[in-house]
Amino acid sequence: MPATILVGAQWGDEGKGRVADWLASDSDVVARYAGGDNAGHTVYVGSQVFKLHLIPSGILRERAVCLLGNGTVINPVNMVREIEELRAAGVAVDPQRLMISTRAHIITPAHIALDKASESALGAGKIGTTLRGIGPAYTDKTNRNGLRAGQMADSEAFADALYKHTTTANQRLMRDNAEPIDPHQSAVEYVEAAAKLKPFLCDTSAYINSRLKEGARVLCEGAQGTMLDIDHGDYPFVTSSSPTVGGALTGLGFGAKWVDRVVGVAKAFSTRVGSGPFPTELDGALADRLRGTGENFWDEFGTTTGRPRRCGWLDLIMLKYAADVNGFTELVLTKLDVLSGFDELLIGVGYQIDGTMIHGLPLTTAEQARVTPVYERVPGWHEPLGSVRTWAALPHTARAYIDRISDLLELPIHTVSVGPERDQLVQR
Ligand code: IMP
Repeated sequence: MPATILVGAQWGDEGKGRVADWLASDSDVVARYAGGDNAGHTVYVGSQVFKLHLIPSGILRERAVCLLGNGTVINPVNMVREIEELRAAGVAVDPQRLMISTRAHIITPAHIALDKASESALGAGKIGTTLRGIGPAYTDKTNRNGLRAGQMADSEAFADALYKHTTTANQRLMRDNAEPIDPHQSAVEYVEAAAKLKPFLCDTSAYINSRLKEGARVLCEGAQGTMLDIDHGDYPFVTSSSPTVGGALTGLGFGAKWVDRVVGVAKAFSTRVGSGPFPTELDGALADRLRGTGENFWDEFGTTTGRPRRCGWLDLIMLKYAADVNGFTELVLTKLDVLSGFDELLIGVGYQIDGTMIHGLPLTTAEQARVTPVYERVPGWHEPLGSVRTWAALPHTARAYIDRISDLLELPIHTVSVGPERDQLVQR
C-alpha cells in the first residue's frame, strides 16, 4: 500500500524537513496536511540551504508533485514569495508540480494582527506563537466564516470577501485596543498574490485518490509535532491544527486503507520553542551546549522566528505517548551528532509528582508543568559523528543509546542523522 505519513514526535523542529527530503526521493506525491507558514523546514542540498515554510520539502526532488491539502492555512503573499525564492534558486515550481487545495483556508493580515493582539493581551501567560496568524485563521475556519483558497479564483469576489472580513476583524482588533488594518491596502496586496496562485488551485483530495489508485507513492509531510497538536498536545500551549496522524487523513482527504507506514521523527534530545511545560528542560551550560551558538543553521534557533529553542534531555514518556497517538511503525532519530562530547547522557524514563511515580503523562497540562523526570544514565561518546556513514562505524555507546531508546519504545529505529547534509543519514 502506498502512503507514508511523516509525523513529528516532539514539539516540532525534529528535523522532519530533511527526513521528508529523503523519503521524497522515493515518492510520487508529497503533501502537507496541516499548519501554515508557522513551520520551518530546512533542507541542505550541496552548498544550497532551503528554508521552506509552506511548500513541501518534496519540491526539491524533481519527480515529486507537491500539494498543500485542505487542512493547511495559506498566507498567499508569503506563498508567492516562497515560490519566487525557489524559482530564483533554480527549482521548477509550476502548476504541474505544485497544487493548492481549494478547501485550504487563507491567513489574512487581520489574522496576523489578531494573533499579535491576543499574545500581547496574554502577557506573561502567552502561548509564544509564531505570530503568523495561525490561530485566528483556524478559529475562523471552525467558526465557519473563514476565507477558502478556492475563493482566490475570482479576484473581484475575493477582494470583496477580504474587505468584509477585514472590517469585521477590525471591530475585534479595536475592542482589544489594537491597531485596525487598512482594508484597501490589504486587499490590493492579497488580490495580486491570489491572482498568481490561481493556476495552482485544484481538488487535491481527488488528485491524491486518483494517484493512489494508480499505485503512486504518497508522502504526507507533517509540520509541527505531536505535543503541539490541538487535541493531543499540552493545551493551550499548542498550535491550532492536528499535526498527528489523523490530521493527515482529514487534512488531505483520503482513507486509512492506503497507509502502510507511519514514520515518527524525534531529535536525539528535546527542544521546544514557545511557552508550556518541558519536564526534561536544561538550563545553563548544558542547555547552551545542546543549543549551539546560532552560527550554523543546524543550531537550535527557530527557522521561522529565529528564537533560541529551549533544550533538554530526551523524554521517553512523551515519545511513548507520541508513538501510541500516531501508531508509529518506526522512529527516525535526528541530530545524533550533537550529542558527541558528553561523558554520560540522561534519558527521561518516568515522571514523579511530589515524589510519587505516575504512569504515562499526567492528566492535565498544569500537572505536566509540575512533574519531575526520573532519569536513566547511559554512557556517552566523544567521537564526532559527522563523517560516519555506516551503522558499524557509530561508536558502540551511540549504538547502545539508540538501541535503549528503541527497546524502551518497542519501536524499530533504523535511520539516524549525523549532520544536515543529504548523505549524513545513516541506515542500520
Ligand atoms: P502557532 O502555531 O504560531 O499558533 O504557535 C503555537 C505554538 O506552536 C507555539 O508554541 C509555537 O512556538 C509552536 N510552533 C508552531 N509551529 C512550530 C514549528 O514549526 N516548530 C516548532 N514550534 C512551532
